[in-house]
Amino acid sequence: MRFLVTGGAGYIGSITVRTLLDAGHEVIVLDTLEKGWREAVDRRARVEAGDVGDRKILDWLLPGCDAVMHLAGYIEVAESQADPGRYFENNVSKPLTLLRAMVDHGVGALVFSSTAAVYGIPAVVPILEDAPTLPVNAYGSSKLMFEQQVEWFAAAHGLRAVRLRYFNVAGAWPDGTLGESHDPETHIIPRVLRAMADGQERFEVFGDDYPTPDGTCVRDYIHVCDLAGAHRLALERVGSGGEGGVFNLGNGRGYSNLEVVRACARVSGREVAIDIGPRRAGDPPVLVASHARAQAELGWTPERGDLDTMIEDAWRWHSTNPNGYAFCRI
Ligand SMILES: NC(=O)c1ccc[n+]([C@@H]2O[C@H](COP(=O)([O-])OP(=O)(O)OC[C@H]3O[C@@H](n4cnc5c(N)ncnc54)[C@H](O)[C@@H]3O)[C@@H](O)[C@H]2O)c1
Repeated sequence: MRFLVTGGAGYIGSITVRTLLDAGHEVIVLDTLEKGWREAVDRRARVEAGDVGDRKILDWLLPGCDAVMHLAGYIEVAESQADPGRYFENNVSKPLTLLRAMVDHGVGALVFSSTAAVYGIPAVVPILEDAPTLPVNAYGSSKLMFEQQVEWFAAAHGLRAVRLRYFNVAGAWPDGTLGESHDPETHIIPRVLRAMADGQERFEVFGDDYPTPDGTCVRDYIHVCDLAGAHRLALERVGSGGEGGVFNLGNGRGYSNLEVVRACARVSGREVAIDIGPRRAGDPPVLVASHARAQAELGWTPERGDLDTMIEDAWRWHSTNPNGYAFCRI
């Protein structure tokens, strides 16, 4: 099949692109390269630098595509709180242009990268897909608004759309050739590993007075390659006429921030002292997915779900590429 992958030069996008290519599909990447890296895109894919809100580029790229994988967007919670307009513009308004162009070109299948942030602070864990969606930050709100647009397009135009709600994505391509290269980095595993690789002595954990066993936040981590495998299954399903739906993607098991720091030390063989800082606004105490629906309906099974495996893969990437992809541009 031929897929258009927006945001395909980013962390999750680049790994998804390689997974799709390995499965024999044809991939066109559309990415502004504002946050992504051309160097991260497998050479077998065609890459076009451009914006998902640019109708002319979409008119050029969409004809002949079987489905669109929409990963492009801004992802930083704190930035979304400080500048919500930027998030609503990039994560809601611009992708609306994509949806309208898809309808006009008869591309009837979409897989969208949504997030556990749409659930806000859940009353019940593990979280099921029909739990209330009450985001507590502008980022989560922007992703939910796009989900709602997608639902209306499905109702009005028969769009077959899968919305994938990811929990905390971690890890790297297992041989260390593709990985996470965000600036600023806000995710705990790459931040701890970078601190360890740089020989920093201290690492700050945000809050230890949450209602969890050790007082720090608990999160459900999913390996980026397992996530990419779920994208492939979802794209193949809607791209060949199958139904859409909404699916949580996590491992169904939570780890506290302190457990994650200890696992990073175990894997890397480096120690870092922990400072407890204030809570970060809008951080739910516990986010753990039920992924039963993805297993039953997509036939998805995580293969690298063990936390140490995720950290080993991430460590291989970070320790051999201390500047991420940035070294490619020096
Ligand atoms: N990383 C996570 O843990 C996580 C968790 C839940 C959901 N998500 C979602 O997954 C998606 C990918 O996340 P990521 O971690 O790979 O982020 P990323 O920043 O590495 O990748 C996003 C890519 O989108 C591109 N982009 C941004 N705006 C664009 C636009 N208007 N037009 C074209 N390209 C544009 C960027 O240049 C970048 O390459 C995002 O939509 C994010 O909301 C990520």
